[in-house]
Amino acid sequence: MSGRRLVGLDLGTHRVRCAIADDDGGRIKVLGVGEVDSRGVRKGVIADPDAAAAAIGRALDAAERAAGVEVEAALLSLGGRHVRSQASQAVVSVASRSGAVSGSDLNRVLEAARELPGTEGTEVVHLIPRWYGVDSKQYLRDPRGVEGGRLSVDAELVLASVAHLEALVECAHTAGLRVDDVVVQPLASAEGVVRDRELETSVAVVDVGAGTTDVAVFRQGTLERVVVLPIGGQNVTGDLAVGLHCGPAEAEAIKCRHGHCDPARVLVEELVRVVGTSGVGSDEVPRRLLAEIIEPRAREMARLIGEALEGPHPPAKVVLTGGGCRLQGFPEAIHQFLEMPVRVAVPEGLSGLADQLGMPEHATTAGLLRWGQRSSARHDHGSPRAERSGGRLNRWLHELF
Ligand SMILES: Nc1ncnc2c1ncn2[C@@H]1O[C@H](COP(=O)(O)OP(=O)(O)OP(=O)(O)O)[C@@H](O)[C@H]1O
Ligand SMILES: [Mg+2]
Repeated sequence: MSGRRLVGLDLGTHRVRCAIADDDGGRIKVLGVGEVDSRGVRKGVIADPDAAAAAIGRALDAAERAAGVEVEAALLSLGGRHVRSQASQAVVSVASRSGAVSGSDLNRVLEAARELPGTEGTEVVHLIPRWYGVDSKQYLRDPRGVEGGRLSVDAELVLASVAHLEALVECAHTAGLRVDDVVVQPLASAEGVVRDRELETSVAVVDVGAGTTDVAVFRQGTLERVVVLPIGGQNVTGDLAVGLHCGPAEAEAIKCRHGHCDPARVLVEELVRVVGTSGVGSDEVPRRLLAEIIEPRAREMARLIGEALEGPHPPAKVVLTGGGCRLQGFPEAIHQFLEMPVRVAVPEGLSGLADQLGMPEHATTAGLLRWGQRSSARHDHGSPRAERSGGRLNRWLHELF
């Protein structure tokens, strides 16, 4: 359906971004984007609700001004280390009189897969079926209509802390925004930048933010797992501030302009001016020194990303996104360390003010718009289970309802 309004709000550690768009006959037409410095968010989670709510309000105002429209509700991203995924299997007996799997059998097996012991204090934010089995027939995408007595499912549950989820919704309400739905950041970023043919093979989408690095691994069109690493661009800035004896703002600016992950790629004679903590006068330091400070942190990030990708079926490719991947030499460092192809990804295929969402740091925001578009398409078709099941990444679930 065309003309439907889409609003995505990404509460990041570094920046809060709000995008307003229209679903324009299947294409997403960006009407306006608001982006402000984040406040009250530490490593992806809300540490100061009032400050975070005020930042959400500023981003929303900016987006509304840019778009020339007012909005009441949005899709929100949920970040932080508490976000994780876990496999879950369930079995039910086929109860329909025809002896073939019905929609209600399917609902029952999915409900059963949601019930995972030992997950008190967490909520299942997404349930993503990998395959279904009917008796001895396995790996079915849509088991409805298949005759049998026993229906099983293998799914990946994406879990998050109830307290953090509620804090996010509360902040949005304080900012005057209703929450249509919540999408975890690794899945929203993947939705924002991964290409269909990458999803069909095996790929890891890695969003390097300021406070966290979000990893989502896919294989044959479905989700393998989600991991959030407690490290990001802020760690690099912190190292530079200590190493160069300067404040965080100066370290951030120097990192973005002159930082590099590989000392060997920086000329010895290049000098960079640094204003020290005293704020009086400045020093010239070799640019290679910056790279020598950054290199170990980049290696640590590569090692942690590599560990997150380990498993029986490691992905064949990494799609890198998020503001942190703009650090010079970072994609090369990941490529060298992991020995796999790396693509630096930005949101694609948007129209209208698409250039406003054209950088890696916009992956999550663009993904929220896409997620909203796909969920609303399903609502139009009367989907009973559209809630929290949006996105291509839940394609197997979509096909069913
Ligand atoms: N040109 C650049 N060079 C190096 N680093 C950069 C560059 N541009 C942005 N960054 C870094 O990217 C990080 C911000 O990325 P992003 O905006 O994706 O984070 P966020 O979404 O606010 O945080 P998170 O997802 O961790 O909550 C910051 O650490 C910033 O220093
Ligand atoms: Mg982010």
